[in-house]
Amino acid sequence: MTEPDPVFPPYFRWGVATAAYQIEGAWDADGKGPSNWDTRAHRPGGLAGGATGDVACDHYHRLAEDLDLMAGLGVGSYRFSVSWPRVQPAGRGRWNRRGLDFYDRLVDGLLARRIEPMLTVYHWDHPQAIEDAGGWADRDTASRFADYAEGLAVRYGDRVRRWITLNEPLSVMHAELTGPPGPPVRRHGLRVAHHLVLGHGLAVPRLRAHVTGAEIGISLNLAGTTPATDRPADVAAAARAEAYEDRLFLDPLLRGDFPHLDGKPVLEAGDADRAIMAAPLDFVGVNWYAPAHVAASESGVFGYTRVPVPGASTNLLGWPVVPERFGALLAWLRRTYPDLPPIQITENGYAGLDEPDGTGSVEDLPRIAYLRECLRQVRAALDAGSDIRGYHVWSLLDNLEWDHGYRPRFGLVHVDFTTLARTPKASYRWYRQFLDVQRRDGKDGLRPCFG
Ligand code: FCB
Repeated sequence: MTEPDPVFPPYFRWGVATAAYQIEGAWDADGKGPSNWDTRAHRPGGLAGGATGDVACDHYHRLAEDLDLMAGLGVGSYRFSVSWPRVQPAGRGRWNRRGLDFYDRLVDGLLARRIEPMLTVYHWDHPQAIEDAGGWADRDTASRFADYAEGLAVRYGDRVRRWITLNEPLSVMHAELTGPPGPPVRRHGLRVAHHLVLGHGLAVPRLRAHVTGAEIGISLNLAGTTPATDRPADVAAAARAEAYEDRLFLDPLLRGDFPHLDGKPVLEAGDADRAIMAAPLDFVGVNWYAPAHVAASESGVFGYTRVPVPGASTNLLGWPVVPERFGALLAWLRRTYPDLPPIQITENGYAGLDEPDGTGSVEDLPRIAYLRECLRQVRAALDAGSDIRGYHVWSLLDNLEWDHGYRPRFGLVHVDFTTLARTPKASYRWYRQFLDVQRRDGKDGLRPCFG
């Protein structure tokens, strides 16, 4: 017999997550400007399989259907991102009314279904004009970003309480360090990291000024790092990996300085910047998929490389499938940052091929097994003292997995990228039932969305 799913406290908020470029499509509709990702996808040899986000899930034109899928699932929270070039095509100055209207319809459609919005200001797509000016390697992007964030707060702050400034600044930095396949790119990784966290810090008070009862956070991809062996070289490599990944943003956000290695900060920032970066946060968003098992390596940018987790299978993206290690990351957070603000799990998911069977149904059982174990780990972390307030599955829909194209599927809902038909998978039915249990067995039911 399988163990029953854990039951969570009534205040816990359940949701699903997506991001604009991965689902919206409508890449040049209604006055939207081009983004860095449009450019990246459109150049020869762009994304895997020649994929682009031109149509993606066509969410922009299928909003009502997708909102109904969420309502049918029974979630109380939806994490989405705003496409910067859709609402401010040149990255400064003029706002695009029709783009802003789309997010009004989205927010209002959520509220009408009693689903609370969680808005990510930046999930990797910025106006091409920003890219042309140097992207995040240019310090001015931090100011442009803060202006953009404030514009969104003015527009949506009456209805959206929960805001995420940046999604995974570490991934943005890595893209800069390693570059996409194809033409050479700028290699200013650490400068990019500095400007991202500066942009975040500049945006926080600007959001707070316009959002009543604001809850403001940032989403970080954290892994939980272990050395491949107990040889000193690998142990040192793991310490470097922890500094350049798990601690790279948490330290400046929570301790006001970049992590130190051998007595020196991995990145120098002046006092004024460091004070801006440490703007008080209401929550830390954690995106978790897999741990980092690392060994010393001369070829790695920072002298380490990820190696396979012994005995673990891998998902379609080659990430080790070890959901039982989620708890180790949460324990590391408790130990390392005793003053950590409450946690929101802002992403957690599983990549599969997810082909429909002969009857058209998608039996994504490995995803269910993975998510169930992750949730057991989250429940155990609550018992051990972690303050975790919510959880979002990545993702509602199969979507464009960035450089990897459309092959890796993360959705609870299958999308046929030829017909754009949506088909709930077995995992959708499982999550719906799981949420039913939370409503029934969580002491006094789920806390209502508002008040
Ligand atoms: C995260 C991204 C998200 C999605 C998942 C699979 O790194 O934030 O957009 O691609 O990975």
